[in-house]
Amino acid sequence: MTDPIGSLRAFLGAATPEPWFEAAIADEAVLLLDHANCEKKAASTALSMVFRYERHGELVARMSKLAREELRHFEQVQAIMKRRGIAWRPLSASRYAGGLRQLVRAGEPDRLIDLLICGAFVEARSCERFAGLSGRLDDELNRFYGRLLKSEARHFEVYLALAASFIDAQALRARIDVFRQSEAELVTKADAAFRFHSGPPSLEVQTPSTSRMPLASASA
Ligand SMILES: [Fe+2]
Ligand SMILES: [Fe+2]
Repeated sequence: MTDPIGSLRAFLGAATPEPWFEAAIADEAVLLLDHANCEKKAASTALSMVFRYERHGELVARMSKLAREELRHFEQVQAIMKRRGIAWRPLSASRYAGGLRQLVRAGEPDRLIDLLICGAFVEARSCERFAGLSGRLDDELNRFYGRLLKSEARHFEVYLALAASFIDAQALRARIDVFRQSEAELVTKADAAFRFHSGPPSLEVQTPSTSRMPLASASA
């Protein structure tokens, strides 16, 4: 049986740098708030594909199921936040989602294929970070991230399998390489602030005040 965490780590172009994990462990409120944002955005992305690509039956079936699963995760993070007295507040978006979206081509089926590859990377990165966090937080969060791993580890393959149904294998590999390089840079280069999909935060801007900038969040 293949190891899903091993295969998603092999899919990604770079491992999350240790300073990102240190920032995550040091700022539980932003970790949970932005994780909640990511789950909500993952559900929204899947649902928007159900609307946009309604003629593709297999895609609709898989994205509909995924949207439900991601919304359940959102509710689970919210429940943890509530128990811990962490109130919702807006967070600025990290550069990650916007950086990946810049690579998405216009015109179909290129746009669909790129959106699916983009989804695969977002899911694989989320899961790689869940795996790295699990065991380094308190008992409740370690259990929670451990459970999420089991569900999230399959998601990047759902996106990849759908992409493979619209493009031949060689062309798919070439597009994956484009996203892989950019995604690896986005998560390894210093970033303005700690977010779920950010790079390691720059030391000079890693302060509680900058992590609470009152701007809209759009992390995927
Ligand atoms: Fe999720
Ligand atoms: Fe997911």
